[in-house]
Amino acid sequence: MEQSDNQWGSRLGFILATIGSAVGLGNIWRFSYVAYENGGGAFLIPYFFALLTTGIPLLILEFSFGQKMRGSSILSFAKVDKKWEWVGWWSTLVTFVLITYYSVIISWSFKYLYYAFTQAWGSNPESFLYGTHLGLTSGLSEIGGINGSILGTVVLVWIINFVIIYNGIEAGLEKASKIFMPVLAILMLIITFRGITLPGAMEGINKFLEPDFTALLDPKVWLAAYGQIFFTLSICFGVMITYASYLPKKSDVVNNAFITSLANCGFSFIVGIGVFGILGYMSAETGQPIQDVVAQSIGLAFVAFPKAINMLPTFQTTLGVIFFLALAIAGISSSISMVEAVVAPLMDKFGLSRKKAAVIVCGLGFLGSIIFTTGAGLYFLDVIDHYNMQFGVAIIGMLEAIILGWYYRAERLRNFFNPISNFQIGNWWDIMIKYVTPLFLIVMLGQSLITEFKQPYGGYPLSGLKIGWIVAGALLITSIILNLLPSKYNGRLLDK
Ligand code: ALA
Repeated sequence: MEQSDNQWGSRLGFILATIGSAVGLGNIWRFSYVAYENGGGAFLIPYFFALLTTGIPLLILEFSFGQKMRGSSILSFAKVDKKWEWVGWWSTLVTFVLITYYSVIISWSFKYLYYAFTQAWGSNPESFLYGTHLGLTSGLSEIGGINGSILGTVVLVWIINFVIIYNGIEAGLEKASKIFMPVLAILMLIITFRGITLPGAMEGINKFLEPDFTALLDPKVWLAAYGQIFFTLSICFGVMITYASYLPKKSDVVNNAFITSLANCGFSFIVGIGVFGILGYMSAETGQPIQDVVAQSIGLAFVAFPKAINMLPTFQTTLGVIFFLALAIAGISSSISMVEAVVAPLMDKFGLSRKKAAVIVCGLGFLGSIIFTTGAGLYFLDVIDHYNMQFGVAIIGMLEAIILGWYYRAERLRNFFNPISNFQIGNWWDIMIKYVTPLFLIVMLGQSLITEFKQPYGGYPLSGLKIGWIVAGALLITSIILNLLPSKYNGRLLDK
């Protein structure tokens, strides 16, 4: 497909779509609990450090790379050299695996939106989540049946993904983002306003912001900050490269990258304040310390929040509906960007039409999601996510920085984006891409591997964790095979 048919209608449309991709499930619950678990206010130091030294530089890299090469991640890497196409495929496949379970979490948000009308979770949201809602089994070895009602909502999520992607860039992604983003911003402001005006809120917000500087000495905190920045900015997913390839070649790169990352991180921060305000209220109501009301990972959204809603003096239903609607919208606006990042490589490599590529990706994606709707779905999600994010994305980030920084040369990209950008970036950017990013990622990977061998992740049996390694290895091998297959884009390689 010719790229000229495939463009954003306006700069605003592009920015809303990139913010839509960045702001997702990761901002609403992941940021709050990761920040809290890793030293509260002290976490913000490594978080902003990771944002400035790696997040924004990599976002500038991905925007300029996609815009210059005018291709999805695989075509862009193939334009650097055909032998690097597999790096693009690897990020495409990692993203594909991510959407298979990301869609399932969005489907839970839809179900909770429905539950919120009657507070169907009752007085014990924890046993409701794991029992009634998920039908969780005793472990990875007991798969249990497919949960029909979750499967139904997963179908709905994939249909929404398909319809938006099928309609293309301007009529699909851009139009959806122009509706989703303002609605999401309003919903989140309502939640934050409610959060900070509840009695006891300040106590919760203080806990969120109160720095624990000793946490800065712990490598785990730095790892968590880097992981969160990659996840939240949707970098190394092929998303931002693909989105930027639909921009006119002379669009401002630097400003777009700063606007996207600052809007995204600002959003996380404001939501964090709102969420902790509500947790502070719960703590004041129950007399329990804050650390006891903060549940882990999915627990924050699907356990602590329903508990908080139960305790609210007024507007319980309204706030519940607003929260889960916001979660679903944030999730969908990110999942469509990830689906696009998988559809575009298929169109580029095999010359498929958008319709065919969307049918293949959404069909296979739906099939992949089924495993996460079983009784052991949550365990599969946890293990596969751990390997996909902790290792997959970090290695891809490192490869991206090394190939584009050293082989293609960072200064070449800087010479491309500086003349077309409103404000200029100095050679500090080259240093970040060539030295700081790869170095930090290598240290991070080393740390993760050491931890992995010292203590099996999440207390799972080693036989269960093998699934994670097998999926990660299979993605790498498939990427190399895909690189070797004949391509339909040969002529377009010259257009750089
Ligand atoms: N950036 C998306 C999120 O934060 C993936 O959820």
